[in-house]
Amino acid sequence: MKKIFKYLGYLFVGVLLIGISLFAIVSMTWKKAYDAPYPPISISSDSTVLARGQYLVYGPAHCATCHIDPSDYDAMSAGELVPIAGGSEIIIPPGTFRPRNLTPDIETGIGSLTNEEVARVMRFGVGHDGRVLFPFMPFENMTEEDLNSIISFLRSRPPVSRKIEATEYTFLGKVVLAVGMIKPIQPGATPKKALKQEASVVYGEYLANSVANCAGCHSPRDLKSGEFTGPKFSGGLIFEETAATFTTPNLTPDPETGVLATWTEDTFIQRFKSGPIHEGTPMPWSSFAMMNEVDVKAIYMYLKSLPPTKNLIEKTVVMKD
Ligand code: HEC
Ligand code: HEC
Repeated sequence: MKKIFKYLGYLFVGVLLIGISLFAIVSMTWKKAYDAPYPPISISSDSTVLARGQYLVYGPAHCATCHIDPSDYDAMSAGELVPIAGGSEIIIPPGTFRPRNLTPDIETGIGSLTNEEVARVMRFGVGHDGRVLFPFMPFENMTEEDLNSIISFLRSRPPVSRKIEATEYTFLGKVVLAVGMIKPIQPGATPKKALKQEASVVYGEYLANSVANCAGCHSPRDLKSGEFTGPKFSGGLIFEETAATFTTPNLTPDPETGVLATWTEDTFIQRFKSGPIHEGTPMPWSSFAMMNEVDVKAIYMYLKSLPPTKNLIEKTVVMKD
């Protein structure tokens, strides 16, 4: 009997020591500084460039959806240029993520960041402080023109002084960083020249993958690392929100399991004009409602051109009580 207690004692001490060492290793190694090139940026005050930047920031690239105060959503949906000064929090198992104040304020905004530092966030997912960022902003393959116009527009806005606290990681978030599960993004074949803004599969592919992040949410992924684990656009990503559990529908043209199978181009356009239907949905419907018809048509054409994938999503919204 006594022996058993002795062994249990050793076991307990052993497990405790392993736990403490793991904790110590993670605490010492999660803060890593990454290196990535600074993309060349040319800022412009040309009105066409600024208009394109404004359109992308509030519309398809939906920077506004994440980088404004939640109390400003209604005003934004009504078309007001509310300040992109931060104020929301994204609370997920790896941590509490706080989108930054993107107005040119020097102390609290991007006034103290160079254009190249901002561009590096978008192309490589590396912050101004060398932190690798969780993959909220997959803009690595945006055209140079669009990158220039977004940063030009942000620089042209009035500075708003609003201090946003730093992002805080949970122990899980620190483990993910310590083991290097999140790496700086590697831009693929970045289209150098602006694509023709027309209702075409090519332009739709660009919007859905490199601007509006449809692929990021409508594909099976590992939520810890962001890695894609199945065919793109086949849906199935789950979001646990306060009011409901949301699962992204399959956007491939599979006749049985694809949500778009019975949608005409007009149904698709009208759906995008209507904005959010389900309270608390993570899909940035309000920003997308600002997309022009050419862009919505291009996305529709692209989705219809994808290889059909069978993936039955029973319900996209399940309310919690
Ligand atoms: C899905 C939400 C989301 C969208 C969309 C989004 N961001 Fe962010 N952004 C974040 C979060 C979260 C952070 C804070 C990341 C952190 O500190 O780990 C952030 C941080 C940043 C930073 C600061 C990084 C640093 O160096 O500290 C910049 C610059 C930025 N975003 C630019 C943009 C631009 C430009 C767009 C639109 C083209 C955009 N973001 C769209 C969520 C988003
Ligand atoms: C941040 C995650 C996210 C992004 C980005 C996103 N979606 Fe969604 N989408 C969802 C979720 C969750 C649902 C299910 C809940 C709902 O209908 O609002 C959904 C639903 C849909 C639906 C079905 C709507 C209905 O009425 O049945 C379509 C179509 C759709 N998304 C297309 C797109 C397209 C196209 C894009 C890119 C332009 C996109 N989504 C980007 C998360 C996202």
